[in-house]
Amino acid sequence: MTEEQLQKRREELRKNREERKILLKRRKQRKIRQTLFCVFLLALTVFCAIGFIRFPDYYEAKQLEKRVKEGQAIAVVAETPASDTKEKNTAETTEPADETTAPETSESNEETATPKPTPTSTVAENNDFSKNGGYVAENAARYDGYQKTTGFSDYETIWQVNARLDLELFDAVTINTDKLNTDILVVVNKYHKVPDGYQPPDLTYNSDGCQLRAATANAFDQMKQAAANSGLTLRAVSGYRSVSYQRNLYNSYLQGDSQANVDTYSARAGHSEHHTGMAVDVFGSVDGLGSFVNTPEYQWVKQHGHEYGFIIRYTAPEQHITGYMDEPWHLRYIGTEHATNMVTQGITTLEEYVGRNGTLE
Ligand code: DAL
Ligand code: ZN
Repeated sequence: MTEEQLQKRREELRKNREERKILLKRRKQRKIRQTLFCVFLLALTVFCAIGFIRFPDYYEAKQLEKRVKEGQAIAVVAETPASDTKEKNTAETTEPADETTAPETSESNEETATPKPTPTSTVAENNDFSKNGGYVAENAARYDGYQKTTGFSDYETIWQVNARLDLELFDAVTINTDKLNTDILVVVNKYHKVPDGYQPPDLTYNSDGCQLRAATANAFDQMKQAAANSGLTLRAVSGYRSVSYQRNLYNSYLQGDSQANVDTYSARAGHSEHHTGMAVDVFGSVDGLGSFVNTPEYQWVKQHGHEYGFIIRYTAPEQHITGYMDEPWHLRYIGTEHATNMVTQGITTLEEYVGRNGTLE
């Protein structure tokens, strides 16, 4: 090999080495890019999964946040002594609701309401409540005391005491499992809780993949189909919740809000109607719980919900009874007969509908 050839060969080898170096460098960079992309994808998946699991509650919280900013959220019930709440109640029976503090949907159910049952009597000295429907002997002294404090009619006094509204907030009784499992009208609220670890029987999934008791899931799907026949979209987004899920949810709200506020939109663990598997939060044609009230689906549910056994459970005018601010999206299944009765009798809370016939316990 000549010197010239040797030189050429050396030059080739040097070029090869450099090309190989560049190649290796590129390969390394590609690997780094791929790894970063995988990490990004993984993070995105986790983020979406968390968002997906929690999005109904997220929308609920966002909606509330908006209302708080607009000064619409009112913490009048939570942690207010029972007597104060009842004073407000008295005022509301004689005066129109205060529009400045009522959330935007205070019109709920007023269009279809017919007059409530006529009170059976007005306040009287030494009243004999036992002549009235719904009378529960063991509540006799409380009827008396409550009527003296509030001046309510016998009718109002009896159902409200039966619903424990004369007691301190969260002075709760635990509903037994048998009643929870068998009574379609069972009331779970601030005064009536489910046992720790309660799980309803016959839980299933409706066509939206929302976990509900079988009859509720079935009724919801029928309602959804009927709405679809009218060109409307109803979607169940939050159904059954375990007590521990609700505990985490409630505590997460407490991170960013006072307990008095949180108590007006989120139930404490054991006190959520979602524990029964007979309550469902819905979206209409626009995603978002807060948007529901502005959709044609809300108007349709208001008009036809009872035909499928559903009532809108929390309305602004009844916040002093239910303890929760307006939730147009939160429906409760009680069967068509009872839901229709409530409409025709103009009764707007489950507390009154059940309490007028006796105790809720
Ligand atoms: N948002 C309703 C009140 C619940 O937490 O059950
Ligand atoms: Zn709900």
